[in-house]
Amino acid sequence: VFDNSANASKAVAHEIKKLIEDKQKENKSCVLGLATGSSPKGLYAELVRLHKEEGLSFKNVISFNLDEYYPMKAASIHSYVRFMNEQLFDHVDILKENIYIPDGTLEKNEIAAFCKEYEAAIERVGGIDLQVLGIGGNGHIGFNESGSLQNSRTRLVALDHSTRIAASKEFEGLKNTPRTAITLGVSKIMDAKRVILLAWGESKSAIVAKAVEEGMTNLVPASFLQEHQQVDFILDKEASSNLT
Ligand code: F6R
Repeated sequence: VFDNSANASKAVAHEIKKLIEDKQKENKSCVLGLATGSSPKGLYAELVRLHKEEGLSFKNVISFNLDEYYPMKAASIHSYVRFMNEQLFDHVDILKENIYIPDGTLEKNEIAAFCKEYEAAIERVGGIDLQVLGIGGNGHIGFNESGSLQNSRTRLVALDHSTRIAASKEFEGLKNTPRTAITLGVSKIMDAKRVILLAWGESKSAIVAKAVEEGMTNLVPASFLQEHQQVDFILDKEASSNLT
């Protein structure tokens, strides 16, 4: 628990910096699993600062984003491609060919094969070294909504009504908000060697307490992380306020 999200984001950025640099020393790539949404914005800003002011290079980084709305054009102002470019990728020296984001432009009948290949690509580079997560008000991680199984795979999912309501501000109303998304499955998130979940603010306090302190349940997919060996929930004071 940190005093505020800015300090927390800096601490996480420094852990990621160390990981990237340790991998560089070994001549290895560093595989990051990345989230969108408001929670990691401060983290990405700090990573950009570390690149610009302290020479942190992303040349050995391979990134896999958790999810993308479906359908979604990459150039849309709502796409997670656009979000990642604006928040991080356009400002660092990551190689474009090392960036993976689920493709919101596929035909429906192409999605299953794409999802299989997305997981295979993660496997080919040795798995995710560090996965960054946020948490939905309903306990989702990625877009693994309530009811997602622990062994769920990368797939097309229907978004919860609560998720759509949360997103509707950006889409100017519920009727414009996508109903489906492609998400990395819970099983690949659980396979990551290290998991860091970020949650800020009073509005996340109830679901954080459920995920951390109540029993594991597929109604709260973030609770599956209780079984992960290297996980931290990084919270500000407000998000921790319901913990006993
Ligand atoms: C985003 C994602 C979602 C968000 C979650 C929290 O890629 O996978 O699970 O992390 O909805 O969103 P924010 O951070 O906006 O509260």
